[in-house]
Amino acid sequence: MGSATAATHIEGGEQSHNWYRWSELGNIADGTHSKNACDHINRVESDVELLKEINTETYRMGLEWSRIEPEEGVFSEETILAYRHEIELLIANNIRPLVTLWHFSNPLWMEDDGGWVNPKSVERYLSYARYVVDKLGDLVTDWVTINEPNVYLFFGYFEGRWPPGLQGKVRLYLKGANNFAQAHLRAYDQIHQQLEEKGQTDINVGVAHHLRIFDLFDRRHLSRLAAYISNHLFQIMYLEAMTHGRFLFPMRWWFNTKFEKKNYADFIGINYYSRDLVKGIYNPGTLFNELYVKKGKDVNDLGWEIYAKGLYRICKRVYRKYKIPIFITENGVCDANDSKRSKFIYDHLKALRKAIKKGIDIKRYYHWSTMDNFEWAEGESARFGIYHVDFKTQERTLRKSGYFYSEICKKKEISNKMIKSYLADVEVENNPSLEKQY
Ligand code: BGC
Repeated sequence: MGSATAATHIEGGEQSHNWYRWSELGNIADGTHSKNACDHINRVESDVELLKEINTETYRMGLEWSRIEPEEGVFSEETILAYRHEIELLIANNIRPLVTLWHFSNPLWMEDDGGWVNPKSVERYLSYARYVVDKLGDLVTDWVTINEPNVYLFFGYFEGRWPPGLQGKVRLYLKGANNFAQAHLRAYDQIHQQLEEKGQTDINVGVAHHLRIFDLFDRRHLSRLAAYISNHLFQIMYLEAMTHGRFLFPMRWWFNTKFEKKNYADFIGINYYSRDLVKGIYNPGTLFNELYVKKGKDVNDLGWEIYAKGLYRICKRVYRKYKIPIFITENGVCDANDSKRSKFIYDHLKALRKAIKKGIDIKRYYHWSTMDNFEWAEGESARFGIYHVDFKTQERTLRKSGYFYSEICKKKEISNKMIKSYLADVEVENNPSLEKQY
């Protein structure tokens, strides 16, 4: 069991990526900025101590591409040594690293040349990945090549809230999806080859997919069509391409990309947060969609429905189809006053226990996030952390739910005593204790 962060979320200090510029342009909802974040870049040692304190066995961390390759083809030895140092510290503390190569943030030299919709992005990414794995592959066997291409492309090219801030660009969305898929498929083989040459075994390379439940708002045909389109363009299309090299319509129709059909994933990374109810409307420009949360449902601070059963449903669906081990690469709740997080953790772990009992091979769970951080277009006020962060002083404080999570990580179970101390004020079902699973 572990927790997760990513570079731009926590590091601060870097100015040559798309999120720095997006912040400078005043596009962050609460007026904060990516430039400081959690100042992790200056606090690596003490932040590793925090991970130890919560009994994390594994930690999902990210790398900042623009720090590693400040100009195209020019790599920073100093930066890679700093990441090496961090990874060595983790290993010395028995924390197994899972390293994400790309998590929403592009160097400006790449962003300004079309970012991920330029076909050159594939070679650029592969060259960056080759350098990193060459330098860190003796220490790291577990890699997330790409984080949530669907979310990045949706917000950046369809909805416009993220850089580069474009709206309704379906063709660019598909172009980007195609480039991401190619980048992953080729990186999968490349990373395997590099690690095998280094004598590594027990290698885990995969993508972290943002998977949601799209349920029907009502039973009309139009709502069914809208839910089908969302599901296909936001999830199935990516899973098929990046897991097995199968390019479906419309990616296949537009780009005619062909790859050998085989397994390109040692695990399927699932980032799970919420579900949407899809209502069909007569507007092709929105892909016939409006998304809703049912009245009266429990929601997080951002209004996303808290729906633990969805995690079970997704794991079941994905495992039945692909029969590949699952890592829950992200699962968490935006909850500034920590009134919902303990129950969220409990309910979602319970959903996973049920899945495991049904034979679904779930190998890891990473809670999102280790600490409050720079939450993209929402800024610092959206708080997902097990640790509360005071962004003025950079003081980190373990939340009550964090104590709960750290006990779970240590004991690998949730006893009735723990339920009494951490969930006394919320309702839990009878016979609730979880036995050892992870
Ligand atoms: C992303 C994270 C983000 C989280 C909560 C996921 O889609 O991978 O970077 O912080 O959602 O919004």
